[in-house]
Amino acid sequence: MNRKAKIFAHRGVSGHYPENTMAAFQAALEAGADGIELDVQMSKDGKLVIIHDEALDRTTNSTGYIKDLTYDEIRNLDAGGWFAEANAGEAIPDLGAVFQWAVRNGNELLINVELKNDLIDYPDLEEKVIELVKKYRLENRVILSSFNAESMRKARELHPSIQTGYLISGMPENALEVAKKIGVNSIHCEETYALSEFGREASEAGFTLRVYTVNDETRSEFLNKSGVEVIMTDFPERFLKK
Ligand code: G3P
Ligand code: MG
Repeated sequence: MNRKAKIFAHRGVSGHYPENTMAAFQAALEAGADGIELDVQMSKDGKLVIIHDEALDRTTNSTGYIKDLTYDEIRNLDAGGWFAEANAGEAIPDLGAVFQWAVRNGNELLINVELKNDLIDYPDLEEKVIELVKKYRLENRVILSSFNAESMRKARELHPSIQTGYLISGMPENALEVAKKIGVNSIHCEETYALSEFGREASEAGFTLRVYTVNDETRSEFLNKSGVEVIMTDFPERFLKK
């Protein structure tokens, strides 16, 4: 087995652009990545907001929890200036805007939508994301994932054919057992897990492994040998160079 892994831009090309912004996603398309990974939280008025943290503080010019603010209060914030002066004014996109961009001519990127519901239980997050996937007919290009196993079980139940991944960090002994129980078809894990006995067992049991976040391109040799399907990286160009 020596398949070549697909390369996904983690939070977009977050090594060079502010994470989870349209600039970072557009850079992934231009770099020739196979896909992007992005993180979804939910605003007070139920909008699907693309941002990694539960709160605005680290990556915007404002503070407070996404769950306590309406999208109107969030949409005009600066999500780029913290990264570099040149990126000031980048907005926090909503998932609909990213899907709209994804269905434009020439864009065939796969989209790993990570549901950030491991700390906050956003009501009906799975339903809302899946409705939007169906609206844009992206069922074959979207992969849902979450650290919240119950959420992925629910996603499976709501839509049996959209791909779903159980997201883990470190080396949880029971990950394969949980993944089987909730009915997902893949495990999203770190490199150490993928290359361990656990990872081998999961692959042999038919689970796809998608690995985050690998920024050292020399690791791709080992990951390819072990048959991982996706490498998520902040620097896709390192893995895509000929
Ligand atoms: O989805 C893979 C990876 O993004 C999970 O961790 O914290 O970067 O969202 P995090
Ligand atoms: Mg993520």
